[in-house]
Amino acid sequence: MAEVEKTEVTASTWTSRRGFFTYAGWTIFLGTTLAFMAKTFSFTGFFFPKVLFEPSKKFPVGYPADFPDHGVVTLKARRVFIVREGNNFSAISMVCQHLGCAVHWTEEKGIYECPCHGSKYYKDGVNFAGPAPRPLFHFDMHLSDDGKLMVDTSTIIERVTVLTI
Ligand code: FES
Repeated sequence: MAEVEKTEVTASTWTSRRGFFTYAGWTIFLGTTLAFMAKTFSFTGFFFPKVLFEPSKKFPVGYPADFPDHGVVTLKARRVFIVREGNNFSAISMVCQHLGCAVHWTEEKGIYECPCHGSKYYKDGVNFAGPAPRPLFHFDMHLSDDGKLMVDTSTIIERVTVLTI
């Protein structure tokens, strides 16, 4: 009598416990390998400098004659006011000394006002109202070789210091 081969009916490879752990293991292995390779090949950024390109803190603002006498010129992009009193020039920061909002010059009142919490500053940057604890910063100024006014916002100077030309 011929022997009949018995085939045990088992669950498919996916649904058996062994199959599940086999596939789970391979999935974890491949995922880890891919993550490792991605990290390894991302080193190409090493060859490029990690530089933050910012505009220079020393910049020309124009010739002295460009600024009206007893006037305040707002250089919004540079966040600075250029104040002229005769031959004296000052560069005053637009950054409010309370929480850093941009103050603006109000020509009719002759003061700087902060729209955020109402600080007010005189034309020379001294605070007189609102929560600002101190005057606006004054920046160093000098004349360039070609006669232009240069502002250096990296150097804060005494409020009483002005550039006289
Ligand atoms: S930030 Fe200017 S008053 Fe608060």
